[in-house]
Amino acid sequence: MEEIIYKRMNGGLIDKAIIFLHSLNRPYDLDTISSFTYGNGRVALINDEIIGIVLYGYIPKQFNCDINFTLVDVGIKEKYRRLGICKKLIGQIIYLFPKDIYLQVDQNNLPAIKLYQSLGFEIIEFLFNYYGEEKHAWYMKRSKI
Ligand SMILES: CC(C)(COP(=O)(O)OP(=O)(O)OC[C@H]1O[C@@H](n2cnc3c(N)ncnc32)[C@H](O)[C@@H]1OP(=O)(O)O)[C@@H](O)C(=O)NCCC(=O)NCCS
Repeated sequence: MEEIIYKRMNGGLIDKAIIFLHSLNRPYDLDTISSFTYGNGRVALINDEIIGIVLYGYIPKQFNCDINFTLVDVGIKEKYRRLGICKKLIGQIIYLFPKDIYLQVDQNNLPAIKLYQSLGFEIIEFLFNYYGEEKHAWYMKRSKI
């Protein structure tokens, strides 16, 4: 397979990141990315093309809650899935930020839940209607070791 470069999503990559996220049906714009993550993320690149991304930042579990270090969103280009790329990206964040890490995930998104569990995340709470009517989520946490 082609060489994969893993790196921080610097300012120069944000436009490419937004296009990539749109290709995964994740309609972020610059304002949303900036307000949720301050542009923080890690990307996997092949020939300068983004094939995977993890966004992170300090956000609340729900409104009026404490803010926590959170994986805001993750996505891997379909043809590169199941190769360990997302596990490596999140693994790098775990290494770089040795602290408790949280995330919300759709309760029906089994691939993502399995991925997070394989990295030591545990379900700690059920978030009723988190993504809208009848769209519930799990709140997951990976405790700092
Ligand atoms: C979820 C997603 C990010 C996983 O990325 P990935 O790079 O394919 O995941 P990895 O290859 O690193 O998988 C690591 C482990 O996660 C689990 N996993 C990943 N995809 C899985 C699937 N489709 N079914 C079951 N387990 C899965 C497995 O335990 C896997 O290890 P294994 O391949 O040795 O069995 C990817 O499927 C994706 O982009 N989905 C669409 C976007 C999305 O749902 N994002 C989640 C937002 S909360």
